Amino acid sequence: FSGPYNEMYRPQIHFSPAEHWMNDPNGLVYYDGEYHLFYQYYPEKSVWGPMHWGHAVSRDLMHWEHLPIALAPDSLGYIFSGSAVVDWENTSGLGTKENPPLLAFFTYHNPDAEQAKKTTVESQALAYSTDRGRTWTKYAGNPILPNPGDARDFRDPKVFWHKASSRWIVSLACGDEIRFYASPDCKSWTYLSSFGRDRGGHGGVWECPDLFQLPVAGTDETKWVLIVNINPGGPAGGSATQYFVGDFDGKTFTSPQRETLWMDHGADNYAGVTWSEAPDGRRILIGWMNNWLYAGDKPCVTWSGAMTLPRELGLVPGPDGKGYLLTSTPVRELDGLRGETVMLKGLQVDGTLDLTKRIPFVRSALDLRLTFDLAAAKGSLATRYGVRLSNSKGEHIDIGYDRNRQAFYIDRTHAGSKALPVKEFAAVHTAPFVVKGQTVDWRLVIDRASVEFFAAGGRVSMTDVFYPSELFRTVELFTEKGSIHADGEVTQLQSVWNPS
Ligand code: FRU
Repeated sequence: FSGPYNEMYRPQIHFSPAEHWMNDPNGLVYYDGEYHLFYQYYPEKSVWGPMHWGHAVSRDLMHWEHLPIALAPDSLGYIFSGSAVVDWENTSGLGTKENPPLLAFFTYHNPDAEQAKKTTVESQALAYSTDRGRTWTKYAGNPILPNPGDARDFRDPKVFWHKASSRWIVSLACGDEIRFYASPDCKSWTYLSSFGRDRGGHGGVWECPDLFQLPVAGTDETKWVLIVNINPGGPAGGSATQYFVGDFDGKTFTSPQRETLWMDHGADNYAGVTWSEAPDGRRILIGWMNNWLYAGDKPCVTWSGAMTLPRELGLVPGPDGKGYLLTSTPVRELDGLRGETVMLKGLQVDGTLDLTKRIPFVRSALDLRLTFDLAAAKGSLATRYGVRLSNSKGEHIDIGYDRNRQAFYIDRTHAGSKALPVKEFAAVHTAPFVVKGQTVDWRLVIDRASVEFFAAGGRVSMTDVFYPSELFRTVELFTEKGSIHADGEVTQLQSVWNPS
């Protein structure tokens, strides 16, 4: 890489482009030992512009090697979001069975059609590579799926091989519904069905869908999960990711779910989709650690945007055995970055407990794990408790649980967003969740200007970024109106960009 990767807010264990603007992850595919990460990229400036697909590869989902831009705009338009697959059987005829082609599906967004206020701004296209993704050729027959004329927003194709019907399926975001199409060869597509007008959140445009199967933990059941990103209309304002659990019969996705479920209740996890072909049957998602509410206003000059940590997804039965919940946990490869660990044993907190002095590596990225034992609190149990990150300027961010509201929360109102003019930035984000039982596990991954919070076995996840005027280097536990007991450990995570 070329950048110093040491600017004030530069993430040390997350992917960010060396320079200039990045948004959605694209073309996530694992092939020949490499995880490919393409991304929405504007190589000229640190603001959104004519979209390209930037490209990086990794063998461990943590250390990334930057590769040249994979796809650049042409006369058909900008290169918007999409996906990639390995065409093992060479159904497309664009490679051979011995050397199966990688196929990338993307949306052409045509700025001229947009200016002319046409509805046919967006269409789907194909590109292929026969050299392990190093160079890409756009298919001569593009677009492979022209705009039907009834959807101004018609984008973000996510393709997978559907075994039971031996054909390719694409999920496509069209206004505020998802449409499914099928193809034998990835070149010609037939409309199958639509989902979603009567389900889920509709406070914005539906974008970046993903459809996949997951086993339900502790059962022998397997369900289909449909991920739908939406902007705006998210629970923390602006953009967010909702999901539906149901069945897919090769033609139609159905779900009995009536509730709107959110994958992440923080403000900064958007456009997340999953890798195709990830080994060991894992379903791994990565999101853009940002929000369209203020993405363009961020105080990062040389670059803009980072990805979340890659997360392994799972399904568990919902509360009281009703429905299902999608769980997220950082992939195990994160453990490969572990440096020193400090054990935190028998912490009794009544007010505040400063942990900073116990953490000699507090300037590094941190993996903080805590188990709160609600029965072991001395005296009355706190109404609110959690972790505060702060600096010497009095700026802070709180990650807590509110027992009265029965919700986890991240309070960003005092995080010092002076550099960020958008008033929506300074807010409290909540994740309603009833803690049952005596203990509850927390995990916080902190990387300079972001926190990723996971609780209750990944049933709760919240991702927030912050831009204090001085980085947060103080770590405290706090309680309100009572006390709490916790055990845990904090581990140093070594920078993937600046190895010490
Ligand atoms: C989501 C999104 C996609 C689109 C891309 C454009 O963040 O709006 O729907 O393809 O970004 O950069």
